[in-house]
This record gives sequence, structure tokens and C-alpha cells, in this order.
Amino acid sequence: VRTAAIVPAAGRGERLGPGTPKALRDLGGQPLLVHAVRALSIARSVELVVVAAPQAELAAVRSLLSPAVGDTELLVVGGGRSRQESVSLALAVLPADVDVVLVHDAARPLAPSELADAVSAAVRAGADAVVPGIPVADTVKQVDTAGRVERTLDRAQLRAVQTPQGFSREVLVAAHQAAADDASDESDAATDDAGLVERIGRTVLVVGGAEEAFKVTRPIDLVLAEAVLARRRAAGVTG
Ligand code: CTP
Ligand code: MG
Repeated sequence: VRTAAIVPAAGRGERLGPGTPKALRDLGGQPLLVHAVRALSIARSVELVVVAAPQAELAAVRSLLSPAVGDTELLVVGGGRSRQESVSLALAVLPADVDVVLVHDAARPLAPSELADAVSAAVRAGADAVVPGIPVADTVKQVDTAGRVERTLDRAQLRAVQTPQGFSREVLVAAHQAAADDASDESDAATDDAGLVERIGRTVLVVGGAEEAFKVTRPIDLVLAEAVLARRRAAGVTG
């Protein structure tokens, strides 16, 4: 079984604020994308990494990542207008012999390599789709457009899901194909790949996630990421 990891990295990072595309912002001396790709390349299960990068940065991204991946193969393609489209464009260049696909956000630079291996193992053991998830700390309420609460969800039944998410290749390709065929509304684009798999009626399994797999979305997330990285470095963990 050959496993590839797709890394959508073509977003602008609007919620982080103006500046360089988010994947290329600095975290402890290296772009977020370099941290994320290095962790995947260290994962024993991952043999190939395919990055969907901002169109204007393809050459820069290739030269940043080549020294970071070691023996792991690397492909860099241009991304699309939505995360979903970026993943589709990366799926389209996968070699024929890949049968397990992880999808991992560049914006989750500190996700441990062990998490990628655990997700890969669960797919190899037969699951169609596997996502890491953690219990939700806040109480989550469903609201209407006026901000009135419609209901309070039962927190014990909720999971905040992360990446890397893992899939059998055929299931992920079918899910993206169905979404492309049904592209009636751009706002309908999924925020994760498992969401597309749910839409075609296949089973998605949640496994234990990792606190350090949090997504850098807003400025405060970068503060947390710097602190986590500093703690790792003080403990002698490279990265
Ligand atoms: N992504 C992508 N192509 C897009 C949009 C997003 O590859 N057209 C990637 C981002 O680079 C990121 C991941 O999808 O690694 C998760 O998306 P998100 O955290 O929303 O990042 P951005 O879209 O860049 O941020 P924002 O929504 O704040 O603009
Ligand atoms: Mg986004």
C-alpha cells in the first residue's frame, strides 16, 4: 500500500490578517508550510507529499521544501480558489500506485508525525475515511441569522476535527467528483474532505486527535504556535 499526503497551502489567510499567504508566514524561523511538510515527510507511512501552493509561489515553494523532505518524494502544484479545489488539483496528479491518501492543512504546522501514522494505519486497516478529533471545550449553540439561539448541542457528542484526515483513494476521488458535479453553489464548498465523503454516504471514523494539531487561523493561534515550538525546542525536539 502506497500512501501520499496532500497539503492544501494555497489560501490567503485572511483571518490572520494582511500579508504573505498564510502557508508562507514565519513560525520560529521557518514558514508554516515547511513545518507541516517536514512532519509528514518524517511520518513512516508517508512516501509522497503533494503540495497545492499559491500560483505565484510555485518556484519559491519548491526550493523551500526540497531540502525539508529528505527521501520523501515531493510534488508541487498550483492551488485553486477554494480549499476543496486545491485538494482536487493535487488529487489529479497522484501517481497510479497510490492507494491511501492523507489530506493535511499547511495551517496545522505542529501536528505530530505520529498522528499521520495513526490515521494511515486506520485507513490501511479498512476504514473508508478517518479523521482525528478532540472533545470540544466550549458549549456550542446553533443560532439563526439574527443571532437567536435555536438550540444548544450536546457537547459530549461533539468533536472538533483536525487534519491529517485519511482516505482510501477511491473514496476520496469519488467524493470530490460528486462535489464537482454538484457545484451549484460556491458557498457549498466543504471545509474538510471528510465532509464530502459524508455527502456520498460513506462512513467517516473519528480517532483520537492531538492538541498540537490545532489550526493557525487567527493571530492568537500564531502566539500559541510560537510557544509550543519554543517548548519543543527547549525539550530538545528538532523541528
Ligand atoms: N487552502 C487552499 N486553497 C484555498 C484556500 C485554502 O489550499 N483556496 C488551504 C490553506 O492554505 C490552509 C487550509 O486550506 O492550509 C485550511 O484553510 P484555512 O485555514 O481556511 O486557510 P485560509 O483559507 O488561507 O485562511 P482564511 O480562510 O482565513 O483566508
Ligand atoms: Mg479559508
